Amino acid sequence: MSRFRSTVQKGKIVALENTELIKSSNKNRKSKPSIKEETSETEPSLYHIFHDPTEISVFRSDLMKWYDENKRELPWRTLATTEQDDNIRTYAVWVSEIMLQQTQVATVIDYYNRWMKRWPTVEKLAAATLEEVNQMWSGLGYYSRGRRLHEGAQKVVSELDGQMPKTTAGLLKQLPGVGRYTAGAIGSIALGQVTGAVDGNVIRVLCRVRAIGADSSSPAVTDALWRIADALVDPERPGDFNQAMMELGARVCTPKSPVCSQCPIQTHCHAFKKISMKQEMDCKRLLNKLATNPKNPVPDIENCMSAGSCNLCLSEDWDPQLGVQNYPRKPVKKAPRVEQTLTCIVEHQRAGEESEYLLTQRPSKGLLAGMWELPSVLLQADISENKYKELICDMMQKWLETPLDTHSVQFVGEVVHIFSHIHQTYIVFSVHVSDCSDREQKQKTCWLTKSALQKAAVSTGVKKIMKLYESSSKLDLKGKKRKAGPEKQSNKIKKPKDAATNVGPKQLCLSKFFSTSKTTVKSKCS
Ligand code: ADE
Repeated sequence: MSRFRSTVQKGKIVALENTELIKSSNKNRKSKPSIKEETSETEPSLYHIFHDPTEISVFRSDLMKWYDENKRELPWRTLATTEQDDNIRTYAVWVSEIMLQQTQVATVIDYYNRWMKRWPTVEKLAAATLEEVNQMWSGLGYYSRGRRLHEGAQKVVSELDGQMPKTTAGLLKQLPGVGRYTAGAIGSIALGQVTGAVDGNVIRVLCRVRAIGADSSSPAVTDALWRIADALVDPERPGDFNQAMMELGARVCTPKSPVCSQCPIQTHCHAFKKISMKQEMDCKRLLNKLATNPKNPVPDIENCMSAGSCNLCLSEDWDPQLGVQNYPRKPVKKAPRVEQTLTCIVEHQRAGEESEYLLTQRPSKGLLAGMWELPSVLLQADISENKYKELICDMMQKWLETPLDTHSVQFVGEVVHIFSHIHQTYIVFSVHVSDCSDREQKQKTCWLTKSALQKAAVSTGVKKIMKLYESSSKLDLKGKKRKAGPEKQSNKIKKPKDAATNVGPKQLCLSKFFSTSKTTVKSKCS
C-alpha cells in the first residue's frame, strides 16, 4: 500500500519536460533512449555522486520523513494510493504527469478532476473525439499534450488490448508523449518500479546537493543526474521518493528563494557546505588566523578531486552573491521567435438574439492543431501598417466569400501572448456583418456566442483577444475614447528584451493610423 502513497509538488516544471515534449514528437522517427542509456564517457568523480551506502540510506530516511510530514493531498495521489486496478491507476497517473508537464499543480487540479470524471478509464478517453479533448484542455496550453494522451489511449485500446504498459520501459516505448522522465514517474508512482525520475525540480535539487555546476542540459550532467537518481531512489517506496524529490524542489529548494534552513537534506548538500565553509574562512580571515598559520590550510572549497578537468564542476567562478543558487547552471535560453498576427473579430447579431462570432479551425497538424481561433493571418516582414485593413478584407473574403469595405474594419488593440518559443502579438480588428444566411455550410468555420466560445476548444490567446474586445466595446458604449483606455494600453506591443530579431513589420503607432468608430457593414456569409 505504501508503494502507492505520495505527496505534492507546487510550482512549475520547466527544463526537462520541455525537452521531453520536443523529444516525444520525434519519438517515432528516432530510436528511443534506453532507460540506462550511457551518454558520457568518463566516470564522474566521487564528489559528484552518492557512493556511500550509509549516506544513501540516511538521505532516504531524512527525505521520506520530511515528505510524510509535509505532503499535500492531491487527486492523482489519492488515486495512486487507493485505486486497486493497475490499469486505471497507471492511466490516472499518466494523465496527471502529462498535465503537470509545464503546468503548475494548482492549475492542474481542476482540469484533472474534470478530466477523470469525464474519462475515468483509458477506454473512455479512446472513445472521445479530439475536438472534445481539445475543448477539455482549453486554457492548459501546450495542446499537443492532450492530443498525445488521446492518441496514446487509442493505441492502448487498439494495439495493446486495452492494457496500459506494466513497466517503465514499456511506458517509454509504447506511449506517445512519454519520455524518460514521465516513464520513470508513472512507473514508480503507479507501478512501484524502482527507477529515478529527473524533472526540472529534481535537476535543481541534485545539482545543488552534489555541486554540479556544468550546463545542466549537457549529456555529461544529464547522465550523472540519472545515475544519482537511480542510485538514490528508495526501493521500498520509489514513487513516494520521486515525488518527495519533486516536492522538495518545488517548495524548499526553489529556483530563486531556497529555504536551506528548512531543508531535510541540508547535511547532504555540497552547495550548502560550500557556503558554510566560505563563511568560516571569511571569519578566520577577519580574525587574521588564516594567512598566518601554515598548519591551518585553506579548506578546499571546490572539493572535487578532478576540478579543472571535471565536466560536472562549475564552468564559471563561484558567485558568492548567489550561494546555493550557483547551481544549476542553465544554458543560455534561445530567444523566442517574434511573430505578429492580424486577427479579426467578426460579429453578427440577428434581431433579438445574442451576438455570435466567427471562428475558424486550425489545421490538424502543427501548433494548436485542430483548435478553433478567430480568423487570422500571420504578418510577413515586408507588410506595412497601411496594408493591414486590406489584408483583413482579403482574408475575410476567403472565409465569408463576400467583399468587405476596408472602412468597415476597425482597429481594436493589440494582445501579446507568449507561447513556449513564440512571442506572439495579435493585432486585433473587428467587423460587424449583418447577414449570415448559410452559416452552417462552410467546413472549418463556426459561429459561437460569447459564452459558447469560452467553453470551446480555443486557446488562451483567443480568450485574451475577446476580453480586450469586450473591454474596448464597453469603453465605446460609455463614450470614452478607446485609444486612451487602460485596457488598450496594457495590451500594447511590448518587445521582449531578449527577443530574436523582429521578423514582423516595423511598428508604427497604430492608434494614430486607424479610425476607431464602429461601422456595421452589410455582408453575405456563405
Ligand atoms: N510534478 C510532476 N509529477 C508530480 C507529482 N506526482 N506530484 C506533484 N507534482 C508533480
